[in-house]
Amino acid sequence: MSSGVDCDLAILGCGTMGEAILAGAIRANVLDPRRVIVTARRPERLTELSERHGVYTSSHNAIAAARAPVSLLAVKPQIAREVLLDPDLQGSLDGRLLVSIAAGTRLEQLARWSPGAQLIRAMPNTPCTIGEGMTVLSPGSGSTPEHLLLVRRLFEAVGRVRVLEERHLDVVTALSGSGPAFACVVIEALADGGVMMGLPRDVAIELAAQTVQGAGRLVLQTGTHPSALKDSVTTPAGCTIAGLLTMEDGRIRSTLARTIQEAAQVASSLGGPSDEP
Ligand SMILES: NC(=O)c1ccc[n+]([C@@H]2O[C@H](COP(=O)([O-])OP(=O)(O)OC[C@H]3O[C@@H](n4cnc5c(N)ncnc54)[C@H](OP(=O)(O)O)[C@@H]3O)[C@@H](O)[C@H]2O)c1
Repeated sequence: MSSGVDCDLAILGCGTMGEAILAGAIRANVLDPRRVIVTARRPERLTELSERHGVYTSSHNAIAAARAPVSLLAVKPQIAREVLLDPDLQGSLDGRLLVSIAAGTRLEQLARWSPGAQLIRAMPNTPCTIGEGMTVLSPGSGSTPEHLLLVRRLFEAVGRVRVLEERHLDVVTALSGSGPAFACVVIEALADGGVMMGLPRDVAIELAAQTVQGAGRLVLQTGTHPSALKDSVTTPAGCTIAGLLTMEDGRIRSTLARTIQEAAQVASSLGGPSDEP
């Protein structure tokens, strides 16, 4: 391949999240795998990505970034600084769009580490893989409305998108970024109850997952407040109110709310100190 701009997107650090976006966007026909180049650290990971998706691969971020007008930074936040401060990469990103999904890594830090790039921060989640993602975008310095539209289109192909001010991104990271893990615990716990009462495990998981999905869709599609939907299925002296009171005894509301609070606090520190050069 030539070393010119022959790709539409470079994914720098294509791990769990990078691959979720890649797979979802290919599935939605928004990305042509033959116009995507991805990087990772381990050669076996690159082989896996090439075989699975038919994308170009490189172990050099600078080479990948030079081949596309848009780079998606998808490495762990702890190494974002080191990756961006690579002098070769800086040259490759100058005048190009850099979209960072690194949790807790602020636009101001990205601008310091990659001063020549136009910046957008994004916080997606793993359901992007199946087109059911939730992504929040925050545009940064140098990015234009056209850039935002382009990135919006990419993420809309793999789920819902909101544009919010950057000050909300730590709580977004906790709520929708980490949220799939929290929702899986809820699904697993509901299924455990089913198993306890005699359902086979696979049936219990299917029922729990489809029920959580259905309830979520009901909230989104009807626009009805969750408490109103809950009240509508709560018959006086019935089994639903009996279960709800047990949940309240276990302080499930404050436990889940504090889960988001705690995760947001940790998210805010993932990008390292803001005075680090
Ligand atoms: N996971 C989520 O649910 C989620 C949700 C929202 C946002 N995020 C954000 O997404 C980012 C990635 O998270 P993840 O869970 O996808 O992590 P991950 O699975 O560990 O992926 C990171 C990738 O970076 C690669 N890598 C490591 N050092 C590199 C380097 N110097 N140059 C190029 N690539 C390098 C790794 O390669 P190897 O595979 O070869 O080691 C790996 O493929 C994080 O910043 C996180 O905050 C994650």
